[in-house]
Amino acid sequence: MKRVALLGATGSIGRQAIEIVEAHPELELCAATSGSTPLDDVDAAFTQVGGDVEEILERAQPDIVLNAIVGFAGIHATLWALERGVDLALANKESLVAAGELALAAQRRGGGRILPVDSEHSALYQCLEGRAPEQVETLVLTGSGGPFRGRTRDELTTVTPDEALAHPTWRMGPKITVDSATLANKGLELIEAHFLFGVPYARIEVVLQPTSVVHSLVRFRDGAALAHLGHPDMRVPISFALTYPERAATPLAPLDLASLTLVFEAPDTETFPLLALAREAGERGGTYPCVFNAANEAAVAAFLDGRLPFLEIAAVVADALARADGAPARDLDELMEVDRAARAIPVA
Ligand SMILES: NC(=O)c1ccc[n+]([C@@H]2O[C@H](COP(=O)([O-])OP(=O)(O)OC[C@H]3O[C@@H](n4cnc5c(N)ncnc54)[C@H](OP(=O)(O)O)[C@@H]3O)[C@@H](O)[C@H]2O)c1
Repeated sequence: MKRVALLGATGSIGRQAIEIVEAHPELELCAATSGSTPLDDVDAAFTQVGGDVEEILERAQPDIVLNAIVGFAGIHATLWALERGVDLALANKESLVAAGELALAAQRRGGGRILPVDSEHSALYQCLEGRAPEQVETLVLTGSGGPFRGRTRDELTTVTPDEALAHPTWRMGPKITVDSATLANKGLELIEAHFLFGVPYARIEVVLQPTSVVHSLVRFRDGAALAHLGHPDMRVPISFALTYPERAATPLAPLDLASLTLVFEAPDTETFPLLALAREAGERGGTYPCVFNAANEAAVAAFLDGRLPFLEIAAVVADALARADGAPARDLDELMEVDRAARAIPVA
């Protein structure tokens, strides 16, 4: 029996994770949390709405933590699991982006494993499994391009939150859906991939594959490229992480290969500058990735509230990065201060 602590149980990933846990007798929900939504319908030994997640984790003592909280708020759960050597199924990419070096140091001390839940990183993890690092040429992250792929900047000046929330291939929570529309999500994933797999940014590519069937690829030094294909359905990477290394069955139909046409294209980084800004923040290192994430969270919240135009999201992030000194954080308190300061930039 594997005891799962599910943080963010009321969200898009959280709900799908409950489905996976319920379908597998070897998984047991020992803890479930939300930010503010009641958890009355969730069957878990311990539940907690809001508050300090470390309290429920200490009480529940899980075998694996599925961190499906959205945003920087997920940082405490990520560090708790890594520090204790408890397996971390990581959906909350923002914590690894913001706290990369601190998280890896906690992992070195605790000795735990990170099992990526982001579909692209789950794909990369599977393509890389068992290969020596020197065989790997580049990682290729794929993205759908979001609902505004192919549009010009002029066409994006008046887009509304409802239009940004209409993602063509994935059904997700609002924050990540807007991040997909701006390509900030691919930027966060670029930094996430760097920390997860220890590959320099220069060797991580991004390509668009609009139907989200190819979840990512690894190019090897012999010229071979291994790709991971599947339906755009998060139950697969959630199940992979929670049942690792068993690869338990899911109820999904096999891909109908004869009906597939795979088209790839380069991302338009001029219309969608957040991808290039993320790469720059990642390459500069220190707390620049934390600043990128915090300013983006604040700007996306303002856009969803109708306080900021879509195109201004990137401008807010660029401004925050220009103001930051990027000095590395020595501990979580320093990092939280950097996060707080980067959010304080006026967006209205
Ligand atoms: N959805 C996807 O398909 C997908 C794919 C890849 C990666 N991810 C990543 O997975 C994470 C979750 O995404 P999502 O789409 O599932 O988000 P979501 O639907 O918005 O759900 C977020 C969850 O986090 C909880 N939460 C929000 N603020 C919190 C706080 N301050 N403290 C504690 N809990 C808080 C929410 O609780 P309440 O209900 O009470 O607000 C909810 O349970 C994100 O990091 C996202 O980037 C998601």
